[in-house]
Amino acid sequence: MPQHAYVIDKMISAKSIAARIEALSHEIEAEFAGTQKLVVVGLLRGSFIFIADLVRELDLPVEVDFVETSSYGNAMESSREVRILKDLRGDIEGRDVLVVEDIVDTGHTLFHVLHLLQSRRPHKLRTIALLDKPSRREADIRADWIGFEIPDEFVVGYGIDYAQRNRNLPYIGKVRFVQD
Ligand code: IMP
Repeated sequence: MPQHAYVIDKMISAKSIAARIEALSHEIEAEFAGTQKLVVVGLLRGSFIFIADLVRELDLPVEVDFVETSSYGNAMESSREVRILKDLRGDIEGRDVLVVEDIVDTGHTLFHVLHLLQSRRPHKLRTIALLDKPSRREADIRADWIGFEIPDEFVVGYGIDYAQRNRNLPYIGKVRFVQD
């Protein structure tokens, strides 16, 4: 449970998210045009709503798979240590792969996952992140497509949590602490 009371200020509306996903889906379709099968890999758990909306916009033959990495736990600090808690079910050798991340913050998670998946020799490996916090970057990485660049704020909603809460908000909001 969060230790302090907080309120959530709306930052990106559900409508803006939907419009941005629609626009990005056309770019992804162009990049993977003619693919026999695109393996869309969601990073659990934060990407579960984003991946659900994204694949429904993609007019491509799609397979969905998931990887789960160790997360912040209940703190707001990132960690350089990235552990794979759940690996892919399928083989990606020779496949077209799109990795779907909720937020690229320090970048360690995406860096680690990409390194791992690249070692399995996919045909083409691309990445999309709904949110990007470039000012926090530590690892040398950038997603191929980004929904929205945001400042260094802690955000929740649209699948993204604070201590496992607020994932079900339909929009992205920023957490603001208040006096109890
Ligand atoms: P990175 O390894 O520092 O890039 O962290 C990526 C992961 O940290 C994301 O997939 C999120 O799960 C989590 N994260 C980063 N920023 C936030 C935030 O503002 N709110 C909630 N989770 C976040």
